[in-house]
Amino acid sequence: MKRPIVVSGIRPTGYLHLGNYFGAVRSFVKMQESYNCYFFIADLHSLTTHPTPDNLQAGVKQVLSEYLACGIDPEKATIFIQSDVPEVTELYTFLNMNAYLGELERTTSFKEKARQNPENVNAGLLTYPVLMAADIIIHKAQFVPVGKDQEQNLEMARKFAGRFNRMYNCELFPLPQPFTFDGGDMIKVPGLDGSGKMGKSEGNGIFLYEDPKEIRKKVMRAVTDAGPTIMNSPKPEPIENLFTLMKIVSDPDIVQKFDEAYARCEIRYGDMKKQLAEDIVNFTAPIRERILDILKDEEYMARVAKTGAEKARESAQATLKEVKQLIGVKRLF
Ligand code: ADP
Ligand code: TRP
Repeated sequence: MKRPIVVSGIRPTGYLHLGNYFGAVRSFVKMQESYNCYFFIADLHSLTTHPTPDNLQAGVKQVLSEYLACGIDPEKATIFIQSDVPEVTELYTFLNMNAYLGELERTTSFKEKARQNPENVNAGLLTYPVLMAADIIIHKAQFVPVGKDQEQNLEMARKFAGRFNRMYNCELFPLPQPFTFDGGDMIKVPGLDGSGKMGKSEGNGIFLYEDPKEIRKKVMRAVTDAGPTIMNSPKPEPIENLFTLMKIVSDPDIVQKFDEAYARCEIRYGDMKKQLAEDIVNFTAPIRERILDILKDEEYMARVAKTGAEKARESAQATLKEVKQLIGVKRLF
């Protein structure tokens, strides 16, 4: 039987953090074993914020090395850089003709970004979900492993795929579904600054590449409170976030120990943070070592990107040919 197709990407806008890993990359590593996977670096998407050419290049290399260091295997998955597959932008043009201003303007992430940076509300930002849909459906993906924050973008991808099928009376594109690591809900890894998600642009990331000393410092600075005074009381958000992170990186019995201490009003946040920091460092330190090694081997990275681009283009070209035929874009010569 044919393996189901999987597509996902990450923008090269900074070091990967625990949110990226547990929301996305962890699933990549697992899925490559039994799916036909395309994992890419979304350099075109990162252009909405106008990086310098040097920053863009460095970002691409960084994420590529991090993908490999996390265990994504170029023998098992197709790893490539988005801009190496120009067919994606061609499909993006076609999809843009059937994407409406109203629905794009209503997208939460567009509204948020427009509010945060009113001086840079560019068309690329508006049509971000269209490019993302092109990334996904050009390989006819069935599953997309992403974190909770991408839920709406993925919903838009299904909308654009379904709309194309209806418009051209075909079943060219499967409707891509989210995929989660353990079959549960989509994940949101919180930041340790009290509320919200961990994010590159939120300035609250704990990075895979980070020096253990820095990780310890960041965790020890995490927002807490004076501690519970009533037995079995609910946890306020900053404390819940600490526990959420601990559930992700620590052994279940360790989490249980602190959970019980909290219920008894005997929790010592200092101890909990020390434990959490050690568990994070134990997880990130080997990855960090591998990133450092891979970054030194530019030739290897170039080889991976080239092979990946070739494989991704083959799949993209096949879909684009069908798309053009359906639309009626044909050569006269
Ligand atoms: P960031 O949001 O840090 O800029 P990206 O937007 O490039 O990172 O996200 C890359 C992937 O990581 C996406 O699948 C996204 O859903 C996931 N991701 C990012 N932050 C988190 C988080 N805090 N929790 C879970 N998944 C996340
Ligand atoms: N929008 C995604 C993010 O910000 C990155 C992305 C671009 C993506 N194209 C994609 C993710 C296709 C999954 C599939 O994280």
